[in-house]
Amino acid sequence: MSAPHKEPPPSCAIVIFGANGDLTKRLIIPALYNLARAGNLPEQLALIGVDHNDRTSAQWQGALRDFLAQSLAKGGGGAIDDKLWNPIAEDMTFLKGDFEKDETYKQLGDLLADLDKKRNLGGNVLFYMAVADRFFGPIAGKLGEAGLVRQDQGGFRRLIVEKPFGHDLESAKALNACLLKYLKEEQIYRIDHFLGKETVQNIMALRFANGLFEPIWNRDRIDHVQITVAENIGIEGRGNFYEKTGALRDMVPNHLFQLVAMTAMEPPVSFDAEDIRAKKAEMFKAVHALTLGDVVRGQYDSGVVAGQQVAAYRKEENVAPDSNIETFVAMRVLIENWRWAGVPFYLRTGKRLAARSTEIAIRFKRAPYALFRETPVEELDADWLILRVQPDESIRLRFNAKRPGPAMALESVAMEFKYKDWFHQAPAVGYETLIYDCLIGDATLFQRADQVEAAWGVVEPVLKGWANTSPRHFPNYNAGSEGPSAANDLLARDGRSWRTIK
Ligand SMILES: NC(=O)c1ccc[n+]([C@@H]2O[C@H](COP(=O)([O-])OP(=O)(O)OC[C@H]3O[C@@H](n4cnc5c(N)ncnc54)[C@H](OP(=O)(O)O)[C@@H]3O)[C@@H](O)[C@H]2O)c1
Repeated sequence: MSAPHKEPPPSCAIVIFGANGDLTKRLIIPALYNLARAGNLPEQLALIGVDHNDRTSAQWQGALRDFLAQSLAKGGGGAIDDKLWNPIAEDMTFLKGDFEKDETYKQLGDLLADLDKKRNLGGNVLFYMAVADRFFGPIAGKLGEAGLVRQDQGGFRRLIVEKPFGHDLESAKALNACLLKYLKEEQIYRIDHFLGKETVQNIMALRFANGLFEPIWNRDRIDHVQITVAENIGIEGRGNFYEKTGALRDMVPNHLFQLVAMTAMEPPVSFDAEDIRAKKAEMFKAVHALTLGDVVRGQYDSGVVAGQQVAAYRKEENVAPDSNIETFVAMRVLIENWRWAGVPFYLRTGKRLAARSTEIAIRFKRAPYALFRETPVEELDADWLILRVQPDESIRLRFNAKRPGPAMALESVAMEFKYKDWFHQAPAVGYETLIYDCLIGDATLFQRADQVEAAWGVVEPVLKGWANTSPRHFPNYNAGSEGPSAANDLLARDGRSWRTIK
């Protein structure tokens, strides 16, 4: 598995397609810088950027350095440390080229061969597709046709695929088929940046490194699970993207289902990537395909968020005034296996909600009867284990305790472990572990083809159903609220209610 980061990865070239783009400057380069700080960069590293914009290598390097310097200054990280930056900047080459032209790959092949000789990179190359998803297939195809992903001459050839991986089951299958035409599954690293978060990886430690939790981690003790990924921001000027995507496609088959998998998978026999991925895939097989009745969609109206009046989704830039795209989705997911039969997993995610909050909340069954005079069992609070992923990373256990005094009065209290109180947290943008793992060839935190397809298979009936029925009451929740009332009905039907988003 990813940590501990002991050894630097082998020397290699990293080729970034989309070198001039947002992801490269905001996340990939800062992640490399943070890896340099931790001593986790390869001894020899050559960075090649491919993009159709006009740039010299010096201009590319300078622009990335300036952006990094600004972000460090803004985040209180001080000035750039040249001891860390220089090994990254030492061999940065910008290759101007079109992703869809053969010529680009001919030049790239020549460049890689040159750099390999000059820097002794052992033939190792990591290709990073930091590009819009419509290019994933074409770039992989062109790399394959140019022979650049063949591993038979020594050295590794790996490919990072960004999100979204497909728009539905059919397109995910087609993309997998396209990638697998030239690459083996073990060369493909499908990124889900949620899995780069320490708290998400810690779910496995919590479950499998402690004797305490696993015996109660099942339908005998757990009543239900709530997973919330709430954002208070809107679509941040990405109307064109969001109008084609919506909350379900954007968040559910990838991020939310990864959180479900981490919570619900069976214990693997080892922390080997294949063992973990096999257990996740098994879990996805047990998830019952959703029906329209299991899912609620919503779209935000105007409202007040953090004291500011904000516009309705339909008034955002590049959004149709009668758009039916959902900005909120809630669902009830059933996992049909021995461990989870009868334990619903309620999932919700949305934009412009009351707060930014990502958490997995596990509600335990109530005590079977109240021993305490004048405390009917239904008045006892149930116990909760709450794994907070953001903004404040923590694990909190809520349980009943006796309030001091002569009467036997009970009150729900909490014990809390906060990451920042226990561990020094090195500066991170969330891509460090993911990139490091690709460099050392550890695929644990990446999605395998069968997982991706199984996840799309679960939501497929809803996507098809929604394509044929217009939502009736859009917009149906105010910005700054907890989402549409229909989401509350979804749980009320089962005699349950959502935790407050805060
Ligand atoms: N940005 C983020 O924060 C973020 C976060 C998570 C995941 N992602 C994922 O990362 C990927 C990249 O996102 P991004 O926001 O970085 O995209 P982006 O800003 O559009 O970057 C793509 C780069 O590729 C260039 N390009 C476009 N067409 C080209 C072509 N035919 N040949 C050569 N170069 C071409 C673009 O140039 P022009 O713009 O000049 O055309 C741009 O410089 C996407 O899959 C996205 O979903 C992004």
